[in-house]
Amino acid sequence: MKKILFFTCAILLSIAGKAQTTVSHPSDDVKPRAISLACANVVFSQPGIRFMHKIRATNPDAAIAVEGLPRGLSWNQQRSLVEGIVEQEGEYHYTVKLTLDGETTLETITLTVSSTLQQPLPFMGWLSWNVVEGDISEQVVKTVADAMVSSGLAAAGYNYLCIDDLWHAAEREAGTNKPLFDTKKFPNGMNAVSDYVHSKGLKFGIYSDGGTHTCAGCFGSYGYEEIDARQYAEWGVDLLKYDYCNAPTDLQTCRKRYKAMGDALKNSGRNILFYMCEWGVREPWKWGAETGATCWRCTYDARDGWKGKNGGVGILQSIEGMKDLWPYSGVNRFNDADMLCIGIHGTGKSSSDLVEGSPGMTQTEYRTQFSLWCMWSSPLSLSFDLRKPISADDLAMMTNREMIALDQDPMGQQAEFIGETDGIQIYAKDLENGDVAIAVLNLNDAERVVKVDFSDIPALDATTTYHLRDLWAGESVGRHTGSYTVSVASHETKVYRFSKCW
Ligand code: GLA
Repeated sequence: MKKILFFTCAILLSIAGKAQTTVSHPSDDVKPRAISLACANVVFSQPGIRFMHKIRATNPDAAIAVEGLPRGLSWNQQRSLVEGIVEQEGEYHYTVKLTLDGETTLETITLTVSSTLQQPLPFMGWLSWNVVEGDISEQVVKTVADAMVSSGLAAAGYNYLCIDDLWHAAEREAGTNKPLFDTKKFPNGMNAVSDYVHSKGLKFGIYSDGGTHTCAGCFGSYGYEEIDARQYAEWGVDLLKYDYCNAPTDLQTCRKRYKAMGDALKNSGRNILFYMCEWGVREPWKWGAETGATCWRCTYDARDGWKGKNGGVGILQSIEGMKDLWPYSGVNRFNDADMLCIGIHGTGKSSSDLVEGSPGMTQTEYRTQFSLWCMWSSPLSLSFDLRKPISADDLAMMTNREMIALDQDPMGQQAEFIGETDGIQIYAKDLENGDVAIAVLNLNDAERVVKVDFSDIPALDATTTYHLRDLWAGESVGRHTGSYTVSVASHETKVYRFSKCW
């Protein structure tokens, strides 16, 4: 019998918001304010669907008050959040008052309530980069589209098929400057490809870059935003991943360049979802929404390993990059943790670089990746080789309905990072129906027994009895009041859905 190391972790948790570090707000002009918001100030909601906006300040000692809320919303002082349901579409504004040492700062929040938001839920799909790179072609797209449907991935929600870098011809069209594709890779043209993707009930994504060249050296879109956006629209593109290689590094230029493409996409005549990829270098969660983007990468490329080396991003570095960004995520504005490596098993291309040990992870570690991405409401982009058969275990993992339902929860909340003690991390995600998802992650090299104390988690009530469902086991683990004790294997993440017992 497996030896279990019994170890009870007293999880000493900071109260909500205390874990936030002090950051300056990039929309502040010259003189930085003494105190400002450390959460989203441009937020979105759908009519009739519960909305939540967690308000945090750069200094956790600030007193926070909210005024001028639209009908249907109320201020929850205890949890420092705005919540409720707005029925009427429209643009609303409310004011957050931050007071510290007798000085008050007013911040305006813009809330758009609309039934036609571009990305009410984080997109799900497949991106070509990790295993295909320059081998992308019409044939690959068709094979992958077929596999997405026949495997059941499309039915599970993975409905964007996205071509990444290296689809390009050597140069733009002479005279018109229109972007050209490589005719060897796409002999029947891009419309034949997008028509095929659409005929399968899928959406079609493409890739470009706000610099002179893409990361792999093809022509970029800088200076050609309008031409490119129009061409993508003509090609039937539904999503643009927009990278930022070969471009000036300063924040101002970067914002301008993303805004230029965001505006061009709006003028293109087609609804094209705008996915920013400047790797979190200039904190796009603070300003990305102003460019028209609805999700943004928050780290460098996620690699197929638990721990990255020499700047590589393994699971541990993804956690570092993502865990404190929860006040900036919400409906139509998602923090992206990059492509999932589930199913790659060390057989990818650049995804195999910069990892400690050999590339690839255990199934437990891949499940942890999936758990975190779902808890964070990150877009779910698969990137394994769909030209080959998928193992039953991999397929079950990536199509776990109850996990996907967390990622796709209509309230779009990224799980709050509650804290870490002795290598145990806890996350809590508010869900639209009032349930709460709790994840317990064990970063240690040995199994741990963890006591989760409900009073440490702001979304839970210590005196309420909850029904707990283990989402990976797919079974109920009974009713619990006050605490729940669980054994978590090394590198495992246990995920529970808590529902109040009435
Ligand atoms: C960057 C991006 C990757 C991929 C490559 C393509 O590195 O972060 O996701 O798109 O460029 O060259």
